Order: sequence, then C-alpha cells, then structure tokens
Amino acid sequence: MSFIQIKDAVKKYDSKVSVDHLNLTIEQGEVFGLLGPNGAGKSTTIKMLSGLLKIDQGEMTLDGISVKTDPLEIKRRIGLVPQDLAIYENLSARENVTFFAKLYGLRGSLLKERVDEALEFVALADRQREKPSSFSGGMKRRLNIACAIMHHPKLIIMDEPTVGIDPQSRNHILESVRKLNQMGSTIIYTSHYMEEVAAISTRVGIIDHGHLIACGTEKELRSKAAQEEKIMIQVDKLNQAAIQELNDHPRINQVTAQNQTIEITLSSSQAYLQDILFILSKHLVRIQTLSQIEPDLEVLFLSLTGRKLRD
Ligand SMILES: Nc1ncnc2c1ncn2[C@@H]1O[C@H](COP(=O)(O)OP(=O)(O)O)[C@@H](O)[C@H]1O
Ligand SMILES: [Mg+2]
Repeated sequence: MSFIQIKDAVKKYDSKVSVDHLNLTIEQGEVFGLLGPNGAGKSTTIKMLSGLLKIDQGEMTLDGISVKTDPLEIKRRIGLVPQDLAIYENLSARENVTFFAKLYGLRGSLLKERVDEALEFVALADRQREKPSSFSGGMKRRLNIACAIMHHPKLIIMDEPTVGIDPQSRNHILESVRKLNQMGSTIIYTSHYMEEVAAISTRVGIIDHGHLIACGTEKELRSKAAQEEKIMIQVDKLNQAAIQELNDHPRINQVTAQNQTIEITLSSSQAYLQDILFILSKHLVRIQTLSQIEPDLEVLFLSLTGRKLRD
C-alpha cells in the first residue's frame, strides 16, 4: 500500500466542482511537487488530505489511515504550511512556535528542545523574541514552516511557500525542503512555478480543473513534452527561399528567423533533421552551429491544457 492514496476524491463548493475525481499515490520518502495554475484545486486537495475540509466523495489515506474516519491520527502525522499564513502577529516568533508545539502535545524539556530546533532550522533563532509584524514576507513564511515541523511529522505539506517572497528566503525554503526530506519526512509541495517544482521534486503531478492530467519524474514529463521540439540553427546568412521551404515542410510547425538564427519547432527533430539539413544546403546556407533546445515543461502544460501555466 502506498504511503498516500487519493482515490476518486471530489470536492464541490455549492455546485462548482473544485476537485474532480482526483487519483494520486505518493510513496514514503518522496518530495512530490503538485503543480497547477491558480484555481486548479491544489489547496482544496491539500486541505482535504489534512482533514481540514470534508471529502465529498472518494477516499484519502495516509500511512494506511483513513482521513475520513480518523482525522486526529492524520493530523498527528502531518505538518501543514498553509498558503495563507497561520501565525499570530501579537505573539513573538518563539511564542508562535511554542503555541503550535503545545497543540501537538509537546511539554517540558522536549517542548523547549523542539522549539529551539525549529527556530534554528528556519534561521530565526536570533529573532525569536520579536513579533512577526516586524518580519519580511519571507521571514513570516519561515516562521510558518517552524510552526509546522517541530513535532517531526511523517508528512510535511507546503502550499505555495515561495509566493511573494524575496529570493534569499526562497532559496532558504527550497533548501529546507531538501533537508527535511533527508531527515526522513515525505514532502508535498504545491506551486505554479514549473522550474522550481522540477528542481526539487522526485515526481511532479500536474493538476488542472481538479484533475491530475500528468504525473511522473521530470524526465518522464520532459519526454512527453518532447512531442514538441525546438532546434536552433546559426547560419552564415538568412535565405528567404530556404525559410519558405522549411515553413512548407509538413512536419515543421513553426519557423522563425532573425539575424543569423533560425528557430524551428517540430514534432520530432530526429526524424526530420536530415530534411532540414538538406533544405539548407540546397539553398547554399552554411550552418555555423546547431542546437536542440531541451523540451520545456511549460510547453507540456500548454500542449495538455491549451493554456499557459502562468499568465
Ligand atoms: N471556500 C471556497 N468557496 C468557494 N469556492 C472555493 C473555495 N475555495 C476554493 N474555491 C474554488 O475552488 C477552486 C480551486 O481552488 P484552490 O484549491 O484554492 O486552487 P489552487 O490552490 O490550485 O489555486 C477555485 O475555482 C476556487 O475558486
Ligand atoms: Mg492554492
């Protein structure tokens, strides 16, 4: 049995379906990136999995425990860093972490030890006496992380933790995802930044309109995206007849030419590279360099959904 199993999960707000028969499994030890545009259903999925929102239909289990029947046991195993900050502005950073530690049942010397550890982990130990009202967005986000990890949860969920924060805090958060994973926690991380998710995840699930539309390792997703490939060719000089002939090729989707660079989008570069070279040499165009551009995950999203991940 997988560590996390989501089977046919449905959530409706009034008549609007936000999560639509979602199926997903995640194994222990993964950093799973849940990627999708705004409104795709990421937060709703996560709230259901954390026991914060009723599951209308379907089933979710964590560690073999049903979220529907045993939400308290689920909460013990999860550290949730919500999209909307959940910290108290009138408490100091330390008091915030202590408050959540007590909610998780920590007491006495263990409580102190874990609060110290969490503040240290998010690099806020030296600011722990201050109230978060004096903190930057990134520091608040880091404090929010400290509040979610001090009970050493098996699963840590971070919902869009890098939105609207400075690059330094962003790097710190991405690094902390890696460290928490190395220390033994499974991580679910949501984002609408493709590059960021691809860089830190073992697998990525792409969600749109409450459905999982693709799921796999970055490599697997890239090979799906490879149906659309791009080649860049530097030439000695542009030749309009050659460009026209490339454009007329039935398997070439797009040709753009500027200065001495020709960019070609096509469905399979391996199969048609010979054709391209033939056309160019026929028109006496000399090739200086030729490079294949790695298939882009944004392109995959576009080809699956017909729209861009971010506007
Ligand atoms: N409390 C709510 N009431 C009504 N609709 C909601 C509520 N929360 C979310 N939704 C709707 O559900 C859909 C999914 O939202 P959400 O899960 O927040 O997406 P994401 O986190 O991927 O941006 C959106 O269309 C959103 O407007
Ligand atoms: Mg969200």
